[in-house]
Amino acid sequence: MSDASSTALRPVYLSEYRPAAFTVEAVDLRFDLDADTTRVTSTMQVRRRAEANAEEPLILDGEDIELRSLRIDGDELDADAYRFEGRSLVIPGVPAAFELTVVNDCHPAANTTRMGLYIADGTFCSQCEPEGFRRITYFIDRPDNMAVYSVTLVADAARYPVLLSNGNPLDSGSLPDGRHWARWHDPFPKPSYLFALVAGALEAHEDRFTTASGREVTLRIYTEAHNRGRTDHAMASLKKAMRWDEETFGLEYDLDLFQIVSVDDFNMGAMENKGLNIFNSKLVLADADTATDNDFQAIESVIAHEYFHNWTGNRVTCRDWFQLSLKEGLTVFRDQQFTADMHSAPLKRIEDVRVLRSQQFPEDNGPMAHPVRPDHYIKIDNFYTLTVYEKGAEVIRMLYNLVGADGFRRGMDLYFRRHDGQAVTCDDFVAAMADATGTDLDRFKRWYHQAGTPRIRVEEHWDHEQHTHHLTVHQSTPPTADQPDKQPLVIPLRMGLLDGRGRPLPLKHGDRDGEDTETVLPVTESEQTFVFREVRERPTVSLLRNFSAPVIVEREFDDDTLRFLVAHDTDAFNRWDSAQTLVTGRVLDFMDQQARSVTPRLPEADIEAFRRVLNSEVMDDAMIAATLTLPGAREIGEELDVIDPDGLYAARDTLVNQLAEALEDDFGRIYRLRADDRGTGIDAESMGRRRLKNLCLGYLGDLDRDAYVQHAVDQVRAARNMTDVMGGLRVLADLDRPERDEALGAFYDKWHDEPLVTDKWLTVQATSQRPGAIDDVERLMAHPAFDRHNPNRIRALVGAFAMGNFRAFHAADGRGYRLLADFVMELDPVNPQIASGLVQAMIRWRRFDARRQGLMKAQLERVQQLPGCSDNTREVVDRALAPGQAG
Ligand code: TRP
Ligand code: ZN
Repeated sequence: MSDASSTALRPVYLSEYRPAAFTVEAVDLRFDLDADTTRVTSTMQVRRRAEANAEEPLILDGEDIELRSLRIDGDELDADAYRFEGRSLVIPGVPAAFELTVVNDCHPAANTTRMGLYIADGTFCSQCEPEGFRRITYFIDRPDNMAVYSVTLVADAARYPVLLSNGNPLDSGSLPDGRHWARWHDPFPKPSYLFALVAGALEAHEDRFTTASGREVTLRIYTEAHNRGRTDHAMASLKKAMRWDEETFGLEYDLDLFQIVSVDDFNMGAMENKGLNIFNSKLVLADADTATDNDFQAIESVIAHEYFHNWTGNRVTCRDWFQLSLKEGLTVFRDQQFTADMHSAPLKRIEDVRVLRSQQFPEDNGPMAHPVRPDHYIKIDNFYTLTVYEKGAEVIRMLYNLVGADGFRRGMDLYFRRHDGQAVTCDDFVAAMADATGTDLDRFKRWYHQAGTPRIRVEEHWDHEQHTHHLTVHQSTPPTADQPDKQPLVIPLRMGLLDGRGRPLPLKHGDRDGEDTETVLPVTESEQTFVFREVRERPTVSLLRNFSAPVIVEREFDDDTLRFLVAHDTDAFNRWDSAQTLVTGRVLDFMDQQARSVTPRLPEADIEAFRRVLNSEVMDDAMIAATLTLPGAREIGEELDVIDPDGLYAARDTLVNQLAEALEDDFGRIYRLRADDRGTGIDAESMGRRRLKNLCLGYLGDLDRDAYVQHAVDQVRAARNMTDVMGGLRVLADLDRPERDEALGAFYDKWHDEPLVTDKWLTVQATSQRPGAIDDVERLMAHPAFDRHNPNRIRALVGAFAMGNFRAFHAADGRGYRLLADFVMELDPVNPQIASGLVQAMIRWRRFDARRQGLMKAQLERVQQLPGCSDNTREVVDRALAPGQAG
């Protein structure tokens, strides 16, 4: 074992949770804002908890800041009256209740981590979740300390005309030296991770909202002046979200002011600070010229997500960071329901399941696997994961389906009645659901502490004499690194039976004798058999409808059954899913055949099935496009024991090409019918039309014929919306033709002043499927458009390449791995959070062939040896390299 890895980092354990001895009940902060050195004066009302031992010292967290003075009830402490232990400031012998004044300095301009107080494009801005507040001042920086905040900001009036913090503005004024000040007060007690501060030259788009009970709320979205015209969609989305939460959950906004600030330099998507959300500009700014339909949809959903946190996260918060899914899983579920209500429920479900399968399932089956409620971590930053967010939302969705919409509402009401103003656990949430609905959810709670994706295997037997159909369901969860033994889970298995003509059959089983054609089987054991009566012909089973649980169904479908389900299933999700299963199986067949030097052919029946979908008169455009969007190589690779990127691509490319050849006329006709659409509307119908049009163009582009390439060129030149421009550019980017470079060059000339559009230009090249994509990535990393420290630029180029270009990143020569490791090692000292995210592109190295295994492992070891490697990156790399981990 290497030197670096022998100095194992010590994890924090859920089982060691203990409340702090003291509580900061109120805090008054004064900021003398200066880019180089900001002086923070914090006056805290501190009280020893009744249960705490009188001997215990006060312990405050602090990181990368400098203490200037400490006073207790006005008396300055001598240097020997306190001490530092690691990153903690320890003050022994304090009274039971007192006022503590801390003066310290921090350095926003030098802070490259984008955590704590930093400068984004000349604007002061803060990010405190999860443990950033300690980079601003010494504090009990944990979510179970809820305090009331008053904040005074002082700054140069010319450079920082706008001074913002949480809550309501109290007062403001100017100072003689060209400085000015503003004072804010937030009446709601909150944990430190929800504190926020912004100071800069910003302009507001202002609007109003009247809540259901008649409260007038001022809404403001702040941007730099030149982006002021791009906030209409965000504002409209905010108002929709506010109304929806009132109508759906009876939840109203609780302050007089709701503010959103858009910044270009942000580690993640957005942050729900009380009354002052801070957003990555990518998730606020949009107009038809610069944003795609996907961007518009992402903005609507993230604006809603952060707004919904005001109740699920802020009013009721997490006791500790192990409970992160308490707020994130629940809030993702809420934003998913919102989107489903605003647009198409089945499409939203399909999109969410695609993300879950292609990203969360691999996470759950790799070295970073952890339960929805993790039980240990080294850096909590590493656990803002798909498991906590997306699988967490699936767990809430199962609860919702178990107790029903009305029961869920009663459970939510009880949760808020019991816990408003508190910091609680996932158990408290489940208890509210159980108590409000009289449901026993004890076994259900295993979903919170058991990692790994459960698999279900189904055996069927039709008894032609008894006219019964027997369904035997086996469930098992493969072991994960930390949890070798798995218990059976509660799996709600939504299903139906179809007769030979595709008609739904009434389901008579157990004590059910009615005419219902859909049911939810309560799978709770490792093996269970369900018997359906009065089944007079061999039925076709439609399983896991609407993806009723986050599991993998292992079932041997024959192709006829799959095509039958694509055509007839009454469940829209399962029609789509059957097509996905059909394609996945076909790619695997193609791989086998190509390995044996047999030339594979797509069966006529498959082509017909897809032709029927493409020409369907009952499906809408968006659903047709979703069905013809094939699973990616990465997703299909999950089915293989050893992931073989070359074989996968050869097979998938062949299949796509054969489909394009066979359906060329259909794709061409459907394309032309929609091609003259110059509209910019973002209504569901227009978006669906563009999606189908660009899907057709994608298949046609695959044929690399002049006429189709010309369509792509025309779209890039003439389209009046960014969706169609990108649809064309994406086709060209994969081709080796002069039109490609012309289009990319013209695009850059037009848009190089718009960072968010430049990101699209970087990504389309980083994810190109043509050989040599890695050369482009290397070249672009030295291009002026690339800023090596801006998280959006990094994600657009390096992230897109490593996570989104499976083919080029996994090139057999290992250049992709070296490029990533080099970049991670350069970035780690600057921004460890982003670095540890990027390195995860290599952690599933054990899933690949021996050669790639060796290449990835060598790069992971280089990163592990990096002198001064951050805890963030070390935790990920150590887990990846630990012996005996899952792939
Ligand atoms: N709480 C935020 C959300 O889900 C996400 C978040 C966590 C975050 N940590 C962050 C955002 C750090 C930016 C930076 O909406
Ligand atoms: Zn969130």
